[in-house]
Amino acid sequence: MQLIMATGNQNKVREIREMLEGTSFTILSMKDAGIEADIDENGTTFEENAVIKAETIRDLTGQMVLADDSGLMIDAMDGAPGVYSSRFMGEDTDYTTKNRAILERLKDVPEEKRGARFVCAMALAFPEKDGVKPETQVFRGVFEGRIAYEIAGENGFGYDPIFYVPEEKMTSAEMSPEAKNRMSHRGKALQQVVAALKELKI
Ligand code: IMP
Repeated sequence: MQLIMATGNQNKVREIREMLEGTSFTILSMKDAGIEADIDENGTTFEENAVIKAETIRDLTGQMVLADDSGLMIDAMDGAPGVYSSRFMGEDTDYTTKNRAILERLKDVPEEKRGARFVCAMALAFPEKDGVKPETQVFRGVFEGRIAYEIAGENGFGYDPIFYVPEEKMTSAEMSPEAKNRMSHRGKALQQVVAALKELKI
């Protein structure tokens, strides 16, 4: 059974391929499937955006599609940057600049109010059958932490260098990729997707 991963990010494609090894699912990237689509992510929640992406590509291809949407929610910024995480301060602004701006904004915020979480929604859209589009399944993974006082770590990407993980006593950019994948929002959402796919028994 083929499953298209609605992302241009090859790391995400590789990760889900590894998790589905030994099952009957073949994971295709957008490139493998020959699709080029610029999807307007105009939802106001991670779930809405994931569903928009999954259903748009499903409608284009008639195949089963998995899409994800994720971001960082900071309590002291009322949940921002949230669904605007990659667009925060402009898509082309580098993350060192974005991360420094956040640290500056939170410089007087005490530890107990520095709560933050990475959230990942994944949507699994199914091909139309007998003229009916089955309901898209949605999953959510959350990675709890807080905003660090300084930038630390070279691994990961995006906001990882300012995301402090209390259990590990380090930022997610200091964690090994394997350790981060086990705890992360994406890892947790993906585990639920994999369980749901295995349940489909196709
Ligand atoms: P996407 O929806 O997976 O493309 O992620 C949107 C944005 O959220 C990214 O561009 C990052 O700014 C942020 N983000 C999501 N997941 C992570 C993560 O694991 N580490 C750091 N930043 C992340």
